[in-house]
Amino acid sequence: MHVKHLTLSNFRNYTTAELPLNLGINLFVGKNGQGKTNLAEAIFYCATLTSHRVGGYQPLIKQSETQAIIRLLAGFEDRENLLELELNVDGANRARVNKSEINRIRDVLGYVNAVIFSPEDLDIVKRDPSNRRAFIDELLIQLTPRLAGVYSDYERVLKQRNTLLRTSKNLSANSPGLATLGSWDESLVKIGSEIIASRHEIIQRMIPHLKDAYAAIADEKNDPNISIRSSLLAKSIVEPELEVDGVYLETNNRAEIEALFRAKLLEVRPKELERGVTLVGPHRDDLVLFLGTLPAKGYISHGESWSYALALKLASAALLRKDSRAGDPVLILDDVFAELDLIRRSRLANLIADNEQVIITAAVAEDVPSELRASRFVVLAGTVEGQNG
Ligand SMILES: Nc1ncnc2c1ncn2[C@@H]1O[C@H](COP(=O)(O)OP(=O)(O)O)[C@@H](O)[C@H]1O
Ligand SMILES: [Mg+2]
Repeated sequence: MHVKHLTLSNFRNYTTAELPLNLGINLFVGKNGQGKTNLAEAIFYCATLTSHRVGGYQPLIKQSETQAIIRLLAGFEDRENLLELELNVDGANRARVNKSEINRIRDVLGYVNAVIFSPEDLDIVKRDPSNRRAFIDELLIQLTPRLAGVYSDYERVLKQRNTLLRTSKNLSANSPGLATLGSWDESLVKIGSEIIASRHEIIQRMIPHLKDAYAAIADEKNDPNISIRSSLLAKSIVEPELEVDGVYLETNNRAEIEALFRAKLLEVRPKELERGVTLVGPHRDDLVLFLGTLPAKGYISHGESWSYALALKLASAALLRKDSRAGDPVLILDDVFAELDLIRRSRLANLIADNEQVIITAAVAEDVPSELRASRFVVLAGTVEGQNG
């Protein structure tokens, strides 16, 4: 798919913007702080209902305003879909698809696909488990929009179970005050296992694309791979904010995962009661990104980390292109070219050239290979002007 037109109203630093986009490459040039990433964020929000750089939607609403609107006209094959999102400071957000109000806002998912690559994506390789979970979950939701409901159910159950654990703190494991915990356990297991199985399955499908993308972008031959380090298999549960010392999950069989989950919950119950927080589940799992036999995090070089992060995003795009209902995702490269050496710039240019639509942002147009500069826009203080050449 591709974005034909984007209209913003009181979104971030835009009062209003009308933006006709082209098939193929669209280059946005502007100094820092002018609103380039905000454009990328608006498109990504339509694809995932999350921002790629902030939790929640309130920061997306222009300061001192009460409502932001994103209107996106998507083209897919010979059809068009018009998405309209209304983000409100107070009260519920609303959405319309092709002028009809929809019941649940998450029903806008599945019309727009987008993959953003930006320098912050090095965090997927180098930083915390939460960065890697967000990476895989954003992809899953785009491939299988129904899962957005599963994630929100899981968050709700987790929150309520944590509240119960907190208020039951220091009760003994079989006291009657804990009678309701069992039913929360079962919801947690059922919903959480669906998430864990889905992550496992998507990762298996992604790995071949990751290997291809890494081979195409990296200097040195090396073999990337991904395993899930699951809290369900942890030998010891460490502090909640630290990583789980688990072994790798080898199955995406729901019944097997549920059984592991139930058993682990029983095992950690005394610890959970002591700490007042849920210690196992998909919210505590991690992806281990391997390069050869070594884990990327803590071992690989800065250059390899760049290649790895980029390969993860190119693999996501390849998977969406192949398997998603909306076809080719919009590929967004936000502030990336300035950070790459000339060889990687030209390799990347070759890799993205045939994507249905690519959005590139840069502070300096000359950092972007010349073959990607044909259709150019200038971004200046929350305004966008088209410019030819
Ligand atoms: N909710 C908001 N209301 C008004 N301005 C905002 C809001 N959120 C971000 N901004 C402004 O948007 C600008 C950043 O835009 P961004 O798209 O990140 O710039 P860049 O062109 O460097 O990518 C900053 O000047 C920031 O102050
Ligand atoms: Mg930016």
